[in-house]
Amino acid sequence: MSEKDFIPAPYTTLKEEGSVTYSSPSNIALVKYWGKRENQIPANPSISFTLAACVTKTCVHYKKKAQHSDEFSFDLLFEGEAKEEFKPKINTFLKRIVAYLPFLKDYHFIINTSNSFPHSSGIASSASGMSALALCFMEMEKTFLPNITTNDFNRKVSFLSRLGSGSACRSIEGPLVQWGETSSIKGSSNLYGIKYPYEVHEIFNNFHDTILLVDKGEKQVSSTVGHELMHGHPFATQRFDQAHTNLEKLGKVLADGNLIDFISIVESEALTLHAMMMTSNPYFILMKPNTLSIINEIWKFREESNTHVCFTLDAGANVHVLYPENEKDVVFPFIKEKLVPFCQNGQYICDRIGLGAKKL
Ligand code: DP6
Repeated sequence: MSEKDFIPAPYTTLKEEGSVTYSSPSNIALVKYWGKRENQIPANPSISFTLAACVTKTCVHYKKKAQHSDEFSFDLLFEGEAKEEFKPKINTFLKRIVAYLPFLKDYHFIINTSNSFPHSSGIASSASGMSALALCFMEMEKTFLPNITTNDFNRKVSFLSRLGSGSACRSIEGPLVQWGETSSIKGSSNLYGIKYPYEVHEIFNNFHDTILLVDKGEKQVSSTVGHELMHGHPFATQRFDQAHTNLEKLGKVLADGNLIDFISIVESEALTLHAMMMTSNPYFILMKPNTLSIINEIWKFREESNTHVCFTLDAGANVHVLYPENEKDVVFPFIKEKLVPFCQNGQYICDRIGLGAKKL
């Protein structure tokens, strides 16, 4: 498929007014997307667990403009209050997707959005936020072109979400979504995420992700800048090759449920992501002393307890603690006793693997 395939047939009718609401989750990458080319094309393939508890809920009210104008027209409310500072990002998103949703300039929108996780918790809201908005716009298009299949709908939402934020294209479905062309996964594409197409071992059912909020402050370096710094990075080629290899290895692990191999791929991916940051020019560090303390505590406990708890990291200081359902009675008390003291104000979020976005 190419970008052109996402341009719709002409609409015959446009609804005057209506509203639509979606909830869309965040996701946590096991093999990380870090580095991109023009038009949000990833430099390497990635795969993520879709989450269940960390979601953005977005309601879009739409009303046809009296006259067509060449500007986008929308009000933006975040948790019930007008948020002017979020508008430029939405405007950029609308500009990127209007070729694929040509009705966008025909309407005035009231976009009302809220997150289930604490504001400024350092949890990336772009994945859940952009996908929730893309879902609402696609649902609108579906009222004009109702014959679209569920598969085509999901694929186009993922395609549109990617243009808002790369990782957002992995939030529509679950429990595992893969994005980026790679030879080991049939149907993989740089343009959209796909539901992982192979069988997954039952050990991953209900897998837990307890998110430890180590530092809720604004990141010193945004993901956008971080991706940019992979251009001309001395280890870029090796890193991109490694992601393909890790994805292939992870495929085997997802099938046979070998958690020891799972841990070694997932933790290595997390540390490699941060190693890329530390070796770029300019270099930077997003981990905090407490991030390292948590990692060391996890390693110590894993050794002593014979469990399969492990960690992964986003582009920030927070730690995602991953463990299977059948070990939660041992691992969760450990998290509360030994890891939560390293969190800012003792804050953490109990999340787990989820099934994707929902229409409300
Ligand atoms: C470290 O999707 O936030 O979370 O495409 O610029 O919006 P943009 O970047 P973004 O990058 C996320 C990177 C990551 C790894 C991952 O989710 O794969």
